[in-house]
Amino acid sequence: MKVTKAIFPVAGLGTRFLPATKANPKEMMPIVDKPLIQYAVEDAIAAGITELIFVTSSSKRAIEDHFDSNFELELNLLERGKQDLLTLVQDILPEGVSCAYVRQKSPRGLGHAVLCAKQLISNEPFAVLLADDLIDGGEKTCLQQMMTVFNQTQASVIAVESIAPHETKKYGVVDVNTKNTNVCTVRGIVEKPSPLEAPSDLGVVGRYILTPSIFTFLENTAAGSGGEIQLTDAIAKLLEIETVLAFQFQGKRFDCGSKLGYLQATIAYALKHPELADDFQVILREFIECTA
Ligand code: G1P
Repeated sequence: MKVTKAIFPVAGLGTRFLPATKANPKEMMPIVDKPLIQYAVEDAIAAGITELIFVTSSSKRAIEDHFDSNFELELNLLERGKQDLLTLVQDILPEGVSCAYVRQKSPRGLGHAVLCAKQLISNEPFAVLLADDLIDGGEKTCLQQMMTVFNQTQASVIAVESIAPHETKKYGVVDVNTKNTNVCTVRGIVEKPSPLEAPSDLGVVGRYILTPSIFTFLENTAAGSGGEIQLTDAIAKLLEIETVLAFQFQGKRFDCGSKLGYLQATIAYALKHPELADDFQVILREFIECTA
């Protein structure tokens, strides 16, 4: 089966970035000139996704507006002959890609957010992308790479990467049959274990392709780590009946859910921005020399 739908859980309060996120969704924070959510959407579209499902909450209207047309702005740009900017805003979503929005009424966790989108997914595999995890995959985006694995195996695929031992409490951590290949079978998965309890150093990052069987488990998953319904706990059940693969992708991930990761991503993306790279490099060098 082909994967054409992706879920973007965007209902979180973004408390780690207050006060910036008091009135603005954290997913709308820009890395240079593009909001985080747009990078995640571009990853999905590159992988062949045509239906974007956003699981939102009341304070996230800006996300809907971002992916809608803005008549006033477009007319203004047209009248002022700013064709390049007009194309930029009109091309945020290519032809043939549609958006749907479903509300998560209370913040009950990632598993609950995915379950909220069940009504929009038929009996078909789907992707889940967390905008906090910004991934520069290089030639192929992370989800594109995962899609190749899915198309060959038709099994659920979870993106993982090596994490520092003291960071296990921030991630879902997988137990795998081997670490010698970039695709391996998941034998177990635990949400935010202590370093001593962690089954490996492979942490889950925010890209998943899941078979629809996950919904049955999500419906029966009790609150877990942090008192929330965890996607990880439902995946732990899924792998008892189906193959679940862990995939070590090519590329660099930035944890934009943390301030340091966000700053790191801003620097990395500014250094490769076609209009800014050269000048920014000079500024950065001067800055480092001044503070050294
Ligand atoms: C979520 C998942 C976790 C995963 C992480 C990746 O946690 O629950 O398993 O490792 O995303 O970013 P969160 O960062 O929402 O606490």
